[in-house]
Amino acid sequence: MKYVMAIETSCDDTSVALVDETGFVKFCRAENQDQVHKPFGGIVPEVAGRQHAENLLPLIETALSESKISWSEVLGIAVTSRPGLVGSLLVGLITAKTLALTHSLKFIGVNHIEGHIWAPFLKDETYKPATEELPFLSLVISGGHSHIFLVKGMGQYKLVGKTLDDAAGEAFDKFAKLTGLGYPGGSKVDAAAVGGNPAAFAFPRPMLHDNNFNFSFAGLKTAAHNLLKTMSQDEIKKNIADLCASYQNAIVEVLVAKILRASDEFKIKHLSITGGVSANSQLRRQLAAQCEKKKLQMSMAPLRYCTDNAAMIGGVGLRRLLRGESSDFDLPPSAKSSATDFETLS
Ligand code: KG4
Ligand code: ZN
Repeated sequence: MKYVMAIETSCDDTSVALVDETGFVKFCRAENQDQVHKPFGGIVPEVAGRQHAENLLPLIETALSESKISWSEVLGIAVTSRPGLVGSLLVGLITAKTLALTHSLKFIGVNHIEGHIWAPFLKDETYKPATEELPFLSLVISGGHSHIFLVKGMGQYKLVGKTLDDAAGEAFDKFAKLTGLGYPGGSKVDAAAVGGNPAAFAFPRPMLHDNNFNFSFAGLKTAAHNLLKTMSQDEIKKNIADLCASYQNAIVEVLVAKILRASDEFKIKHLSITGGVSANSQLRRQLAAQCEKKKLQMSMAPLRYCTDNAAMIGGVGLRRLLRGESSDFDLPPSAKSSATDFETLS
């Protein structure tokens, strides 16, 4: 059996994975930097890059030794090349290129968002995905992206809708900061919302009724800011479950409505959610219920593949390497996707 060595350093987690030729994840681990960034209330790019430089090689060594795999069993190296923090991407990319040269292996740069799109179809010892029914609609929601793609196959995408301002994850993170729940925000809001009344506070549902598949979360953030300004710290603390449930509900309602509308419009019977925000428990529950009602297939990654991870980069890298693709050694890191990455279908 041969394996792809996968590296993901696009943001603040250093992640390494080994994915075998059949797409089975043999190893996937991330070194979390949360504690390092916590005092700053958000990610400091220079600090993230330095942490990656310290953590990456030891994690690669651990992946190989714990899995009892040698470099001779590695068929290629997959690494996130865009989009992301350039200083962070650079560490992964230089490491991947150096290891590829050292061990005479092919390497392939993978778009981080493309990694998220295919993450629900990874498999491992405890997760077996449903069939990869094509085409499907993929709602990619994370700290940096809120996109809906129509996916017809590997490399065949149409961007159907996207956020016009902030990403859904940013809206969660900002709210967690404003309410004092801290960083990282989304999972804290999710946990604090348990048992809260989602109708207790009225938050706007941005663009809910607009006849398109785009999102906007900046206004929701402002509404939260204005409401919280009128409340004392004590009141916020006392009402935290209701506040979180109401705010979360506003985001989830818009996300669910838009992907369902897109499935009607394009007559697509298979929906998928992926990216950090797809870990949200209310979103998962609500969308699963709607899909059951409407007899739609629903694919969602297990929590470990929702947030940033190298297995998803390995999954895409594997498919591309097996098709004979590879990247040139002058491939640069880039903060943004390239214009040709996703507008591949008209
Ligand atoms: O995909 P990801 O790990 O990194 C990016 O590519 O951005 O997503 C991180 C985002 C953060 O904004 C985080 O707050 C959010 O995902 N997130 C959640 C939950 N878990 C993580 N948002 C809502 N509910 C969650 N349970
Ligand atoms: Zn991501």
